[in-house]
Amino acid sequence: MLENFAKRLLDNLTGAVLLVDAALIVRYLNPSAEALLAMSRARVVGAPLADCFVEIGDTDTSAVLRDTLATSHPFTKREAHMRVGLQEIIVDYTVAPLISPGHPPSLLIEMQQIDRLLRISREDALIANHQATRSLIRGVAHEIKNPLGGIRGAAQLLAKTLKTPELTEYTNIIIEETDRLRNLADRMLGPRKLPEVQSVNIHECLERVRSLMLVEAEGRVQIERDYDPSLPELNADPDQLIQAILNITGNALQALMENPDQENPCITLRTRHLRQFTIGAQRHRLVMRVEIIDNGPGIAEALLESIFYPMVSGRANGTGLGLSIAQDIVHQYHGLIECDSRPGRTVFSILLPVEQENAR
Ligand SMILES: Nc1ncnc2c1ncn2[C@@H]1O[C@H](COP(=O)(O)OP(=O)(O)O)[C@@H](O)[C@H]1O
Ligand SMILES: [Mg+2]
Repeated sequence: MLENFAKRLLDNLTGAVLLVDAALIVRYLNPSAEALLAMSRARVVGAPLADCFVEIGDTDTSAVLRDTLATSHPFTKREAHMRVGLQEIIVDYTVAPLISPGHPPSLLIEMQQIDRLLRISREDALIANHQATRSLIRGVAHEIKNPLGGIRGAAQLLAKTLKTPELTEYTNIIIEETDRLRNLADRMLGPRKLPEVQSVNIHECLERVRSLMLVEAEGRVQIERDYDPSLPELNADPDQLIQAILNITGNALQALMENPDQENPCITLRTRHLRQFTIGAQRHRLVMRVEIIDNGPGIAEALLESIFYPMVSGRANGTGLGLSIAQDIVHQYHGLIECDSRPGRTVFSILLPVEQENAR
Protein backbone atom coordinates (compact mmCIF):
# COMPACT_ATOMS: atom_id res chain seq x y z
CA MET A 1 0.00 0.00 0.00
CA LEU A 2 2.69 2.42 1.09
CA GLU A 3 4.90 1.28 -1.76
CA ASN A 4 2.13 2.02 -4.23
CA PHE A 5 1.59 5.43 -2.73
CA ALA A 6 5.31 6.21 -2.84
CA LYS A 7 5.42 5.19 -6.48
CA ARG A 8 2.46 7.43 -7.29
CA LEU A 9 4.19 10.30 -5.55
CA LEU A 10 7.36 9.78 -7.59
CA ASP A 11 5.37 9.48 -10.80
CA ASN A 12 3.77 12.86 -10.18
CA LEU A 13 6.89 14.82 -9.28
CA THR A 14 7.95 17.52 -11.75
CA GLY A 15 11.61 16.84 -10.89
CA ALA A 16 13.29 13.97 -12.72
CA VAL A 17 14.12 11.02 -10.48
CA LEU A 18 16.24 7.98 -11.38
CA LEU A 19 17.28 5.01 -9.32
CA VAL A 20 20.48 3.16 -10.26
CA ASP A 21 22.03 0.10 -8.71
CA ALA A 22 25.64 -0.42 -7.60
CA ALA A 23 26.66 -1.32 -11.17
CA LEU A 24 25.13 2.01 -12.34
CA ILE A 25 22.33 0.26 -14.21
CA VAL A 26 19.05 2.18 -14.24
CA ARG A 27 16.37 0.41 -12.18
CA TYR A 28 13.64 3.03 -12.14
CA LEU A 29 12.85 6.45 -13.60
CA ASN A 30 9.79 8.63 -13.20
CA PRO A 31 7.88 10.22 -16.11
CA SER A 32 9.67 13.56 -15.65
CA ALA A 33 12.98 11.75 -16.11
CA GLU A 34 11.61 10.05 -19.24
CA ALA A 35 10.67 13.48 -20.60
CA LEU A 36 14.03 15.03 -19.68
CA LEU A 37 16.04 12.22 -21.27
CA ALA A 38 13.56 11.90 -24.15
CA MET A 39 13.63 8.12 -23.69
CA SER A 40 10.94 5.67 -22.69
CA ARG A 41 11.07 3.68 -19.49
CA ALA A 42 11.19 0.44 -21.47
CA ARG A 43 14.42 1.53 -23.13
CA VAL A 44 16.15 2.92 -20.09
CA VAL A 45 15.39 0.45 -17.32
CA GLY A 46 18.11 -2.20 -17.37
CA ALA A 47 20.46 -0.01 -19.42
CA PRO A 48 23.68 1.56 -18.10
CA LEU A 49 23.21 5.14 -16.88
CA ALA A 50 26.00 6.24 -19.22
CA ASP A 51 23.71 5.38 -22.17
CA CYS A 52 21.14 7.95 -20.99
CA PHE A 53 23.30 11.05 -20.62
CA VAL A 54 26.90 12.15 -20.66
CA GLU A 55 28.17 15.03 -18.63
CA ILE A 56 30.18 17.50 -20.66
CA GLY A 57 33.43 18.71 -19.11
CA ASP A 58 36.05 17.16 -16.89
CA THR A 59 33.68 15.36 -14.52
CA ASP A 60 33.73 11.57 -14.78
CA THR A 61 30.14 11.08 -13.63
CA SER A 62 30.42 7.32 -13.21
CA ALA A 63 33.45 7.69 -10.94
CA VAL A 64 31.68 10.33 -8.86
CA LEU A 65 28.63 8.08 -8.50
CA ARG A 66 30.71 5.09 -7.45
CA ASP A 67 32.47 7.31 -4.96
CA THR A 68 29.11 8.42 -3.51
CA LEU A 69 28.13 4.81 -3.10
CA ALA A 70 31.43 3.91 -1.42
CA THR A 71 31.43 6.87 0.98
CA SER A 72 27.63 7.16 1.47
CA HIS A 73 27.92 10.93 1.17
CA PRO A 74 25.24 12.59 -0.93
CA PHE A 75 26.32 15.37 -3.26
CA THR A 76 24.78 18.11 -5.35
CA LYS A 77 26.07 19.65 -8.53
CA ARG A 78 24.76 22.89 -9.98
CA GLU A 79 24.64 23.88 -13.64
CA ALA A 80 26.00 20.62 -14.96
CA HIS A 81 26.04 20.48 -18.75
CA MET A 82 24.76 17.16 -20.03
CA ARG A 83 24.50 15.69 -23.47
CA VAL A 84 21.21 13.88 -23.91
CA GLY A 85 20.88 12.34 -27.34
CA LEU A 86 21.77 15.17 -29.72
CA GLN A 87 20.81 17.89 -27.26
CA GLU A 88 22.75 19.72 -24.61
CA ILE A 89 20.90 20.57 -21.40
CA ILE A 90 21.84 22.23 -18.14
CA VAL A 91 20.70 20.61 -14.91
CA ASP A 92 21.16 20.82 -11.18
CA TYR A 93 21.41 17.31 -9.80
CA THR A 94 21.64 15.61 -6.45
CA VAL A 95 22.82 12.07 -5.83
CA ALA A 96 21.88 10.33 -2.59
CA PRO A 97 22.92 6.81 -1.59
CA LEU A 98 20.06 4.54 -0.52
CA ILE A 99 21.29 1.93 1.87
CA SER A 100 18.78 -0.16 3.73
CA PRO A 101 19.20 -3.58 5.31
CA GLY A 102 18.00 -6.42 3.15
CA HIS A 103 18.24 -4.37 -0.07
CA PRO A 104 21.21 -3.99 -2.36
CA PRO A 105 22.71 -0.48 -2.15
CA SER A 106 21.51 1.95 -4.79
CA LEU A 107 21.65 5.60 -5.72
CA LEU A 108 18.80 8.08 -6.06
CA ILE A 109 19.45 10.78 -8.64
CA GLU A 110 17.27 13.88 -8.80
CA MET A 111 17.63 16.26 -11.69
CA GLN A 112 16.10 19.65 -12.39
CA GLN A 113 16.54 21.14 -15.81
CA ILE A 114 17.44 24.79 -15.41
CA ASP A 115 18.54 26.02 -18.83
CA ARG A 116 15.03 27.02 -19.85
CA LEU A 117 14.72 29.12 -16.71
CA LEU A 118 18.18 30.56 -17.16
CA ARG A 119 17.44 31.40 -20.77
CA ILE A 120 14.10 33.05 -20.13
CA SER A 121 15.35 35.37 -17.41
CA ARG A 122 18.52 36.17 -19.33
CA GLU A 123 16.63 36.98 -22.49
CA ASP A 124 14.16 39.25 -20.74
CA ALA A 125 17.04 41.18 -19.23
CA LEU A 126 18.83 41.30 -22.58
CA ILE A 127 15.82 42.70 -24.42
CA ALA A 128 15.02 45.28 -21.76
CA ASN A 129 18.63 46.46 -21.48
CA HIS A 130 18.97 46.62 -25.19
CA GLN A 131 15.90 48.76 -25.72
CA ALA A 132 16.94 51.17 -23.00
CA THR A 133 20.46 51.64 -24.32
CA ARG A 134 19.35 51.91 -27.93
CA SER A 135 17.00 54.77 -27.15
CA LEU A 136 19.68 56.43 -25.02
CA ILE A 137 22.17 56.19 -27.87
CA ARG A 138 19.66 57.52 -30.39
CA GLY A 139 18.93 60.46 -28.13
CA VAL A 140 22.62 61.25 -27.72
CA ALA A 141 23.21 60.90 -31.46
CA HIS A 142 20.41 63.40 -32.21
CA GLU A 143 21.79 65.87 -29.71
CA ILE A 144 25.26 65.59 -31.27
CA LYS A 145 23.94 65.93 -34.79
CA ASN A 146 21.74 68.97 -34.30
CA PRO A 147 24.44 71.62 -33.77
CA LEU A 148 26.84 70.07 -36.28
CA GLY A 149 25.11 71.59 -39.32
CA GLY A 150 25.42 75.05 -37.74
CA ILE A 151 29.09 74.57 -36.83
CA ARG A 152 29.95 73.33 -40.31
CA GLY A 153 28.07 76.18 -42.02
CA ALA A 154 29.72 78.79 -39.82
CA ALA A 155 33.18 77.33 -40.54
CA GLN A 156 32.48 77.49 -44.29
CA LEU A 157 31.38 81.13 -44.05
CA LEU A 158 34.43 81.93 -41.98
CA ALA A 159 36.69 80.21 -44.54
CA LYS A 160 35.32 82.48 -47.29
CA THR A 161 36.21 85.64 -45.39
CA LEU A 162 39.72 84.52 -44.49
CA LYS A 163 42.58 86.09 -46.40
CA THR A 164 45.45 83.92 -45.17
CA PRO A 165 45.64 80.28 -46.37
CA GLU A 166 47.23 79.13 -43.07
CA LEU A 167 44.00 80.05 -41.30
CA THR A 168 41.78 78.13 -43.74
CA GLU A 169 43.69 75.05 -42.58
CA TYR A 170 41.94 75.51 -39.24
CA THR A 171 38.50 75.91 -40.76
CA ASN A 172 39.17 72.78 -42.83
CA ILE A 173 39.91 70.88 -39.65
CA ILE A 174 36.61 72.08 -38.18
CA ILE A 175 34.73 70.97 -41.30
CA GLU A 176 36.45 67.56 -41.51
CA GLU A 177 35.94 66.82 -37.84
CA THR A 178 32.27 67.81 -37.94
CA ASP A 179 31.85 65.46 -40.93
CA ARG A 180 33.51 62.66 -38.98
CA LEU A 181 31.24 63.29 -36.03
CA ARG A 182 28.17 63.38 -38.26
CA ASN A 183 29.11 59.99 -39.73
CA LEU A 184 29.47 58.56 -36.27
CA ALA A 185 26.13 60.02 -35.17
CA ASP A 186 24.50 58.55 -38.30
CA ARG A 187 25.86 55.13 -37.44
CA MET A 188 24.65 55.54 -33.88
CA LEU A 189 21.18 56.31 -35.18
CA GLY A 190 21.22 53.13 -37.22
CA PRO A 191 19.58 52.44 -40.56
CA ARG A 192 16.91 54.99 -41.35
CA LYS A 193 15.46 53.47 -44.48
CA LEU A 194 11.99 52.06 -43.91
CA PRO A 195 12.10 48.28 -44.04
CA GLU A 196 10.71 46.68 -47.19
CA VAL A 197 9.14 43.52 -45.89
CA GLN A 198 8.84 40.66 -48.33
CA SER A 199 9.09 36.91 -48.42
CA VAL A 200 12.78 36.02 -48.02
CA ASN A 201 14.78 32.86 -48.13
CA ILE A 202 17.30 33.03 -45.31
CA HIS A 203 19.76 30.92 -47.28
CA GLU A 204 19.89 33.52 -50.04
CA CYS A 205 20.83 36.12 -47.41
CA LEU A 206 23.49 33.80 -46.00
CA GLU A 207 24.90 33.11 -49.46
CA ARG A 208 25.18 36.86 -50.12
CA VAL A 209 27.04 37.36 -46.86
CA ARG A 210 29.22 34.34 -47.61
CA SER A 211 30.33 35.67 -50.98
CA LEU A 212 31.09 39.11 -49.53
CA MET A 213 33.09 37.52 -46.71
CA LEU A 214 35.01 35.24 -49.08
CA VAL A 215 36.28 38.30 -50.93
CA GLU A 216 37.35 39.93 -47.68
CA ALA A 217 38.97 36.72 -46.40
CA GLU A 218 41.33 36.57 -49.39
CA GLY A 219 41.40 32.79 -49.22
CA ARG A 220 42.69 32.72 -45.66
CA VAL A 221 39.46 31.69 -43.96
CA GLN A 222 37.18 28.80 -44.82
CA ILE A 223 33.45 29.51 -44.75
CA GLU A 224 31.39 26.36 -44.47
CA ARG A 225 27.65 25.98 -44.71
CA ASP A 226 25.33 23.61 -42.91
CA TYR A 227 21.82 24.52 -44.01
CA ASP A 228 18.47 23.00 -43.16
CA PRO A 229 16.81 23.05 -46.59
CA SER A 230 13.34 22.50 -45.14
CA LEU A 231 13.19 25.98 -43.59
CA PRO A 232 10.23 28.06 -44.76
CA GLU A 233 10.57 31.63 -46.01
CA LEU A 234 10.45 34.58 -43.64
CA ASN A 235 8.61 37.88 -43.86
CA ALA A 236 11.37 40.44 -43.51
CA ASP A 237 13.49 43.03 -45.30
CA PRO A 238 16.33 41.01 -46.87
CA ASP A 239 18.73 43.97 -46.75
CA GLN A 240 18.24 44.25 -43.02
CA LEU A 241 18.79 40.55 -42.46
CA ILE A 242 21.92 40.65 -44.59
CA GLN A 243 23.14 43.63 -42.55
CA ALA A 244 22.62 41.78 -39.26
CA ILE A 245 24.33 38.60 -40.47
CA LEU A 246 27.12 40.63 -42.04
CA ASN A 247 27.84 42.48 -38.78
CA ILE A 248 28.18 39.20 -36.88
CA THR A 249 30.12 37.35 -39.57
CA GLY A 250 32.40 40.38 -40.05
CA ASN A 251 33.37 40.23 -36.38
CA ALA A 252 34.10 36.51 -36.66
CA LEU A 253 36.27 37.12 -39.71
CA GLN A 254 38.16 39.93 -37.98
CA ALA A 255 38.73 37.77 -34.91
CA LEU A 256 40.15 35.00 -37.10
CA MET A 257 42.29 37.18 -39.36
CA GLU A 258 43.73 39.27 -36.50
CA ASN A 259 44.72 36.27 -34.41
CA PRO A 260 48.33 35.33 -35.23
CA ASP A 261 48.06 31.86 -33.64
CA GLN A 262 44.93 30.87 -35.52
CA GLU A 263 45.00 27.35 -36.94
CA ASN A 264 42.60 26.32 -39.73
CA PRO A 265 40.49 29.47 -39.50
CA CYS A 266 36.90 28.53 -40.21
CA ILE A 267 33.45 30.09 -40.02
CA THR A 268 30.35 27.90 -40.20
CA LEU A 269 26.96 29.23 -41.23
CA ARG A 270 24.29 26.89 -39.90
CA THR A 271 20.49 26.98 -40.01
CA ARG A 272 18.04 24.90 -38.05
CA HIS A 273 14.41 25.05 -37.03
CA LEU A 274 13.02 24.76 -33.52
CA ARG A 275 9.42 23.87 -32.73
CA GLN A 276 7.50 25.36 -29.80
CA PHE A 277 10.33 27.63 -28.81
CA THR A 278 10.21 30.52 -26.37
CA ILE A 279 11.89 33.85 -27.06
CA GLY A 280 11.68 36.19 -24.09
CA ALA A 281 8.27 35.41 -22.65
CA GLN A 282 6.66 34.63 -26.01
CA ARG A 283 6.24 31.06 -27.20
CA HIS A 284 6.40 30.49 -30.95
CA ARG A 285 5.25 27.53 -32.97
CA LEU A 286 8.26 27.65 -35.26
CA VAL A 287 11.53 29.48 -34.79
CA MET A 288 14.43 29.65 -37.19
CA ARG A 289 17.93 29.51 -35.73
CA VAL A 290 20.81 30.90 -37.74
CA GLU A 291 24.19 30.20 -36.17
CA ILE A 292 27.44 31.88 -37.08
CA ILE A 293 30.21 29.81 -35.55
CA ASP A 294 33.93 30.55 -35.60
CA ASN A 295 36.92 28.72 -34.18
CA GLY A 296 38.75 31.92 -33.22
CA PRO A 297 40.08 33.07 -29.85
CA GLY A 298 36.63 33.82 -28.42
CA ILE A 299 35.34 36.83 -26.55
CA ALA A 300 36.96 37.85 -23.27
CA GLU A 301 34.73 36.97 -20.34
CA ALA A 302 34.66 40.55 -19.09
CA LEU A 303 33.38 41.73 -22.46
CA LEU A 304 30.90 38.92 -23.07
CA GLU A 305 28.16 40.35 -20.87
CA SER A 306 28.17 43.69 -22.64
CA ILE A 307 28.99 43.08 -26.30
CA PHE A 308 25.42 43.86 -27.41
CA TYR A 309 25.58 47.31 -25.85
CA PRO A 310 26.28 50.10 -28.29
CA MET A 311 29.81 51.54 -28.16
CA VAL A 312 31.24 48.43 -26.52
CA SER A 313 34.20 47.23 -28.52
CA GLY A 314 37.17 45.01 -27.86
CA ARG A 315 39.13 46.56 -30.72
CA ALA A 316 41.11 49.78 -30.74
CA ASN A 317 39.43 51.10 -33.89
CA GLY A 318 36.01 49.50 -33.37
CA THR A 319 32.83 51.55 -32.99
CA GLY A 320 31.03 48.88 -30.98
CA LEU A 321 27.89 49.46 -33.04
CA GLY A 322 27.82 46.31 -35.18
CA LEU A 323 26.22 43.92 -32.70
CA SER A 324 23.92 46.53 -31.26
CA ILE A 325 22.53 47.29 -34.72
CA ALA A 326 22.23 43.58 -35.53
CA GLN A 327 20.31 42.99 -32.28
CA ASP A 328 18.08 45.96 -33.13
CA ILE A 329 17.22 44.54 -36.55
CA VAL A 330 16.48 41.06 -35.26
CA HIS A 331 14.44 42.52 -32.45
CA GLN A 332 12.20 44.29 -34.98
CA TYR A 333 11.16 40.84 -36.14
CA HIS A 334 10.51 39.72 -32.53
CA GLY A 335 13.71 37.71 -32.55
CA LEU A 336 16.87 37.69 -30.49
CA ILE A 337 20.59 37.22 -30.93
CA GLU A 338 22.42 35.18 -28.33
CA CYS A 339 26.09 34.55 -27.93
CA ASP A 340 28.08 31.75 -26.42
CA SER A 341 31.83 31.96 -26.54
CA ARG A 342 34.91 30.13 -25.34
CA PRO A 343 38.38 29.98 -26.86
CA GLY A 344 38.15 27.97 -30.07
CA ARG A 345 34.38 28.22 -30.43
CA THR A 346 32.19 31.30 -30.58
CA VAL A 347 28.55 30.89 -31.56
CA PHE A 348 26.19 33.73 -32.36
CA SER A 349 22.62 32.43 -32.70
CA ILE A 350 20.01 34.53 -34.43
CA LEU A 351 16.56 33.32 -33.36
CA LEU A 352 13.75 34.45 -35.62
CA PRO A 353 10.13 33.44 -35.20
CA VAL A 354 8.46 32.27 -38.41
CA GLU A 355 4.93 33.61 -38.76
CA GLN A 356 2.11 31.08 -38.78
CA GLU A 357 0.98 31.74 -42.33
CA ASN A 358 4.50 31.04 -43.53
CA ALA A 359 4.94 27.85 -41.61
CA ARG A 360 4.70 24.77 -43.71
N1 LIG B 1 33.32 36.18 -33.23
C1 LIG B 1 33.98 36.97 -32.36
N2 LIG B 1 35.16 36.59 -31.84
C2 LIG B 1 35.81 37.39 -30.95
N3 LIG B 1 35.37 38.57 -30.53
C3 LIG B 1 34.20 39.02 -31.01
C4 LIG B 1 33.44 38.24 -31.94
N4 LIG B 1 32.30 38.93 -32.23
C5 LIG B 1 32.35 40.08 -31.51
N5 LIG B 1 33.49 40.15 -30.78
C6 LIG B 1 33.87 41.22 -29.85
O1 LIG B 1 32.72 42.05 -29.65
C7 LIG B 1 33.06 43.41 -29.87
C8 LIG B 1 31.86 44.19 -30.33
O2 LIG B 1 31.53 43.95 -31.69
P1 LIG B 1 30.75 45.04 -32.54
O3 LIG B 1 29.51 45.44 -31.81
O4 LIG B 1 30.57 44.53 -33.92
O5 LIG B 1 31.70 46.27 -32.54
P2 LIG B 1 33.12 46.47 -33.28
O6 LIG B 1 33.25 45.38 -34.30
O7 LIG B 1 33.04 47.82 -33.89
O8 LIG B 1 34.13 46.40 -32.19
C9 LIG B 1 34.21 43.34 -30.86
O9 LIG B 1 35.03 44.49 -30.75
C10 LIG B 1 34.96 42.10 -30.41
O10 LIG B 1 35.83 42.40 -29.34
MG1 LIG C 1 31.86 44.76 -35.68
